[in-house]
Amino acid sequence: MVNIAVLGYGTVGSGVVEVIRTNPDSINKKAGQEINVKYVLDLRDFPGDPVEKILVHDFDIILNDPEVRIVVEVMGGVEPAYTFVKKSLLAGKSVCTSNKELVAKHGPELLEIARDQNINFLFEASVGGGIPIIRPLNSSLTADEILEITGILNGTTNYILSKMTSEGAEFDDVLKKAQELGYAERNPEADVEGFDACRKIAILSSLAFGDHVDFEDIYTEGITKITAVDIAYAKQMRQAIKLLASSKREGEHYYAMVAPFLVPPTHPLYAVNDVFNAIFVKGNVLGDVMFYGSGAGKLPTASAVVSDVVDATKHLERNIMSFWSSKKLELTKVDEATRRFFVRTKGYLENKLSEVEDLFGEITPVSAQGVDGEFGFITPLMTEEAFHKQYQKLSDPLNRIRLL
Ligand code: HSE
Repeated sequence: MVNIAVLGYGTVGSGVVEVIRTNPDSINKKAGQEINVKYVLDLRDFPGDPVEKILVHDFDIILNDPEVRIVVEVMGGVEPAYTFVKKSLLAGKSVCTSNKELVAKHGPELLEIARDQNINFLFEASVGGGIPIIRPLNSSLTADEILEITGILNGTTNYILSKMTSEGAEFDDVLKKAQELGYAERNPEADVEGFDACRKIAILSSLAFGDHVDFEDIYTEGITKITAVDIAYAKQMRQAIKLLASSKREGEHYYAMVAPFLVPPTHPLYAVNDVFNAIFVKGNVLGDVMFYGSGAGKLPTASAVVSDVVDATKHLERNIMSFWSSKKLELTKVDEATRRFFVRTKGYLENKLSEVEDLFGEITPVSAQGVDGEFGFITPLMTEEAFHKQYQKLSDPLNRIRLL
């Protein structure tokens, strides 16, 4: 029997306990021994909940108990999670976490401690909820040089954009629903401003490219400026607006960014809706592969955490190698990336065509049904730098969205 302790009895923590209690036989069989939840740590009390009997408020009880071999950290946030995780690893306990903030910030250090201790620091649930992506990057895709990872990595924003598109729903109402369903972060700014997706693409890029991608270096834009009118234009163009988190390698250059994009129906990410996430990966020998599934929520995320607990149990005294060094990967500025942009501006095309073409060159006009007093257009291929320089000079700009 292996004893584990769960730090945090919130959405994911209660999900972890539920998953272990739902599928004990198959989980224990796959782990090779019984997995027993010996402690749950939380500041709160849960009167009437079966977890009451194993609830503790003091982390030191867990740290000082040699019977606890695996610690599950599902508290979220950097502190006190970082302190608890580091102490656990230094005490020879493997750690499984869903905490993307912790992994993005301290991943290389915690992996190194686990390596030195011959134990494991596993974080499958930190990206893509229930979708296996960390383990595939560490094992199944090792024959390839990864050239690109482009993902819909935030369930809340994908849910919001999908409902705004399919039901014409209002941003605030859908966000509230996403919070009720347990998808959104405690502070939903992390979702809607793109910070959550930014940390997740930093983790994936670090694993894919082998060196540390600092999330603070990644250009990040959220979805708060996307309006119902933008969505009307997108529909007219038969495209979908998606918050994409992307990193690419082009020769010696590495790019990473998070921003809303117009995605054409020919791209596999176009059809990824609601809370689903998907991660599109391009390898130099494999070509394209896509991972798709439930990107947030209690049980999908808990399923990924428990899969790590099973793996940690199977490798109690053996470190599973991963490829994420602490050497910083220098990203090339997104200014140099080239793409087309969709732009909306006040006025009428016939009056502003020469202004627009002077700024951007030959454009493709776009109109949307029922939208008056403004028009849209698509620019030719331009660098980000050139586009933003010209966009600043445009009279009465309304919005701009990148094309994939
Ligand atoms: N708030 C996150 C999301 C939870 O919406 O995707 C999963 O990391």
